[in-house]
Amino acid sequence: MAPFLLSLSISRLAWWASGLILALGFLKLAHLLLRRQKLARAMDRFPGPPTHWLFGHALEIQQTGSLDKVVSWAHQFPHAHPLWFGQFIGFLNIYDPDYAKAVYSRGDPKASDVYDFFLQWIGKGLLVLEGPKWHQHRKLLTPGFHYDVLKPYVAVFADSTRSMLDTWEKKAREDKSFDIFGDVGRMALDTLMKCTFGKGDSGLGQRDHSYYLAINELTLLMQQRLESFQYHNDFIYWLTPHGRRFLRACQVAHDHTDHVIRERKAALKNEKEWEKIQKKRHLDFLDILLGARDEGGIKLSDADLRAEVDTFMFEGHDTTTSGIAWFLYCMALYPEHQHRCREEVQEILGDQDTFQWDDLSKMTYLTMCIKESFRLYPPVPQVYRQLSKPVTFSDGRSLPAGSLVSLHIYALHRNGAVWPDPEVFNPLRFSPENSVGRHPFAFMPFSAGPRNCIGQQFAMNEMKVVTALCLLRFEFSVDPLRPPIKIPQLILRSKNGIHLHLKSLSPGSMK
Ligand code: HEM
Repeated sequence: MAPFLLSLSISRLAWWASGLILALGFLKLAHLLLRRQKLARAMDRFPGPPTHWLFGHALEIQQTGSLDKVVSWAHQFPHAHPLWFGQFIGFLNIYDPDYAKAVYSRGDPKASDVYDFFLQWIGKGLLVLEGPKWHQHRKLLTPGFHYDVLKPYVAVFADSTRSMLDTWEKKAREDKSFDIFGDVGRMALDTLMKCTFGKGDSGLGQRDHSYYLAINELTLLMQQRLESFQYHNDFIYWLTPHGRRFLRACQVAHDHTDHVIRERKAALKNEKEWEKIQKKRHLDFLDILLGARDEGGIKLSDADLRAEVDTFMFEGHDTTTSGIAWFLYCMALYPEHQHRCREEVQEILGDQDTFQWDDLSKMTYLTMCIKESFRLYPPVPQVYRQLSKPVTFSDGRSLPAGSLVSLHIYALHRNGAVWPDPEVFNPLRFSPENSVGRHPFAFMPFSAGPRNCIGQQFAMNEMKVVTALCLLRFEFSVDPLRPPIKIPQLILRSKNGIHLHLKSLSPGSMK
């Protein structure tokens, strides 16, 4: 009798469990359908490209050339159009300065549908945080970018760049083009580790190299996840091979971060080191984090600390890598501008061996070229928000609270209404005369408003020092057989790398 009763209760339990799962699935589906209806209704005054019944626009977005596809949509649908990643995540994709101002000047929260995909990797650091905690962390970390802190970094940028250029001397002698992206990436990571995390002069170790590769993997998988609706659910994603690859790469990144934090904490235990830090007039980023206390005197939790280190480690090197690599590509494409930049930096350098802080403000033509390359090749091509309150745009159309907005920086920067002949590389657009009267939200490589990039001054300084030294050492030209293929992968990358020919300009060079 007992086994019979037992099997009866097990089968009843199984019946109830499957009923419960079915009901939960049904509720979830109903919730998603309602949400879709709400998002779609909010955007019904915005015409857009036709959508696939299941994939939305994901199929077009996943294809190579998707960035220029959006530019072609922007010609068809002025200001904005709906953009669906699958059936349930729909953004109003905007690329008009007035539209950008209406949303990005207000500081609405990040769209959790996208930024939550970051959580497993970089946790709730500055990029993802919201509300009072974001405010507290932003206030805490801003002094880490004070100009007195940034000043000595000029020498660090120069040192790391020189090591990269020495390896390029050898590669240039081989007389064939090579992909510069990886070398620039490792150099940018090296400078970041030295400036922001106080690493010594030893250069990158094996752990740093693994970290660098893990970030490539993570940005690729994140972008794929965003564009593939079947990966949006956490539970399903972690079961897929992609999800497991993501977790493995996170582990490598976290091991790297933990190591950096552990090393600094150990150094702080040493009293002399602590005294040295106390005497520094301006603390570096890691000193600030480790010394931070809230009003009640409580330290940052380990999770907060790790999230900020992970955030800065990623944001601080991958973005500048993209900026520098695409800038050098622009120089290779437009030798006349390359030549003019080189003449300018040669004149500024004069008899000195290296650049000084004051030299950076004299690099006016180079700065215009950097801005023009940011316009055509923005290192961060797209950013996302969720409206906390309704917005009405300049043409009277509006969106209710809760709507999702994607700012397509790449298409904004190629908007013909703001940028005449948008595809032409013309640094003079950024001369003081030509900049007068330009819409303040027409050029947004670092985003704008309260959630703009905290590291933009650091990034601009690094861009100037690194690119000036590159131009002094080499002449760059394109490889016509291997033009780069632009792909958004959180940052702007090239699917096939950025292959350039380099000719050494050093007096002792063989060429
Ligand atoms: C060329 C280089 C860079 C570009 C183009 C760039 C671009 C951006 C953009 C567009 C955002 C807004 C992201 C969003 O809304 O989702 C952002 C935010 C951020 N960036 Fe940068 N960035 C660069 C370099 C850096 C560097 C060097 C650091 C740190 C050392 C950094 C740290 C951050 C952080 C922490 C945020 C989040 C800020 C907040 O929400 O308060 N970035 N960056």
